Amino acid sequence: MDVKLTQHTRFGGCAAKIGPGDLSNILCGIDVPENSNVIVGLRGFEDAGVYRLREDLAIVQTLDFFTPVVNDPYWFGQIAAANAMSDIYAMGARPITALNIVCFSPKDLGVSVLREILRGGIDKVREAGASLLGGHSVDDVEIKYGLSVTGLVHPEKIVKNEGAEPGDFLILTKPLGTGILITAMKGNSVSKDAEQRLITGMATLNDRASVVMLSAGAHAATDVTGFGLVGHLKEMIKENLGVEIYANSLPTFPESQRLFGDGFLPNGFYRNRDFYAPFVEANGKNFLYDLIYDPQSSGGLLIALSENSTYRFKKAAAQVSLDYWVIGRFLQKPKGKIIVK
Ligand code: CO
Ligand code: CO
Repeated sequence: MDVKLTQHTRFGGCAAKIGPGDLSNILCGIDVPENSNVIVGLRGFEDAGVYRLREDLAIVQTLDFFTPVVNDPYWFGQIAAANAMSDIYAMGARPITALNIVCFSPKDLGVSVLREILRGGIDKVREAGASLLGGHSVDDVEIKYGLSVTGLVHPEKIVKNEGAEPGDFLILTKPLGTGILITAMKGNSVSKDAEQRLITGMATLNDRASVVMLSAGAHAATDVTGFGLVGHLKEMIKENLGVEIYANSLPTFPESQRLFGDGFLPNGFYRNRDFYAPFVEANGKNFLYDLIYDPQSSGGLLIALSENSTYRFKKAAAQVSLDYWVIGRFLQKPKGKIIVK
């Protein structure tokens, strides 16, 4: 296998801005080192990078960390780890190793809190069948935790953001509303029951969703995170396709509608709406038409599936008890648009 060394990617033309707060243009005109084994690199706006090791083997790498989304440190650790590994699953890969990324001040918070966060992360890494190899911590009064994750995939089995075809069904594997609920939890406005459903949902690995989409031969996939349903859908269609979403089929976490009505909206909601509303054609007006902008933490996979594959998907999902919802369909046109009806 030939490796062409020092072939650089120059961000000369400068990519179109793809999301709110997006940093793609920051590398304008700067050479990024790559070689011919880079299958997915910086330019792809994919969930993770992919590097070919052999004809039949590639590594997938990603990194993600964030500030606490829940009060309980053990659950926070689990959620942050599930969220970090999600990008590996979204590419159709499986995680094999992970490294902790920690910002924490033991002097201010006590080591027992950190221990619980790490225990949560380790339990998720174990559940994923991966190994934790180490990590790095920085003294910081604002807690942040996550993982750098490496996965394996066959280079021909990679599932990218793009690749959906007109007529494909759009499938989502976790309910929406985490941004609203996380904001409301800070105001102690969520019932214990709804809180538990949310926390369990966010801590759930996308491993089964990934296995099911692979066995059904999905055309494309991504995971729903900070840009909300609409932002990550836009990454799937770019300017090549359209998509319609059936508002009434959107799954929601309990109490999200009430809490939305009470005004518990994260800042990311407004950022996403400002940025993505021009790409949306809404044929109605209620809570569900706003929910598409809610930023998600450790959200589910969004999967493009041909009509012929839906039966295989259904069967494989039943085998592993995977919840999923068919929420829309890809269209030939209007290109670049998300129609909500
Ligand atoms: Co992602
Ligand atoms: Co990510």
